[in-house]
Amino acid sequence: MDPRQRLIVALDVSSSAAARKIVAAVGDSAHAYKVGMQLYTAEGPAIVRELTGSGRRVFLDLKYHDIPNTVSAAVREAAQLGVSMLTVHATGGAKMLRAAAEAGHAVNPDLLVLAVTVLTSLDDADLNMLGIRGGILDQVLRLAALALSNGCQGIVASAQEASALREEFGRDFTIVTPGVRPAGSGADDQARVVTPAEAIAAGASYIVVGRPITEAPDPAAEARAILGQLAA
Ligand code: C5P
Repeated sequence: MDPRQRLIVALDVSSSAAARKIVAAVGDSAHAYKVGMQLYTAEGPAIVRELTGSGRRVFLDLKYHDIPNTVSAAVREAAQLGVSMLTVHATGGAKMLRAAAEAGHAVNPDLLVLAVTVLTSLDDADLNMLGIRGGILDQVLRLAALALSNGCQGIVASAQEASALREEFGRDFTIVTPGVRPAGSGADDQARVVTPAEAIAAGASYIVVGRPITEAPDPAAEARAILGQLAA
């Protein structure tokens, strides 16, 4: 895969103007952008239409989690906006996951419906408080199995989880990995970070990078450096 196809830049800003500035600064170094709940809540679908309309791929990270009918309706709308990937919470259960996948594919057979398993902000004690026994990795693997067997095309996972997921379920699904930092840069508030090359080696199909690019003095140069590390 062309390294440029693997890089997703997170537009974690609160205005379309700020998002446009990042997209213009990144230029040709990335083709895909993540729109999450901050930007979407502030600016709505217009920014998504603008990005897809200008030929960019959009990863809509709204982590849908509701009854199957509601989620499938939302996924249909998202697919009609032209997004390439979107997220749902695997804990919505088998019926919700299947409804999401089917609704998305009815609009766009190439849409990647990705499941979020366990938020990386949670630890074993948090899971315990939610009534979930066993460790985080057990829960990640259980939810990934549920998502993949109910029509989802992939999983959002840390690099650490990615290698376990590849071992367990093979190569025939997508893994999107955040928490990536170019070799030699700081970690921001990410607890565990990996380099772009480490993420791909662990089994990631795509990497999501936010602040290292969006807050760089020269975002295009930073994106090119990451592409160089991906290619190496
Ligand atoms: O700025 P940074 O590169 O840390 O941004 C990473 C992006 O990936 C953010 O949008 C963040 O919400 C998201 N993310 C994450 N870790 C997860 C899931 C999503 O950092 N486990």
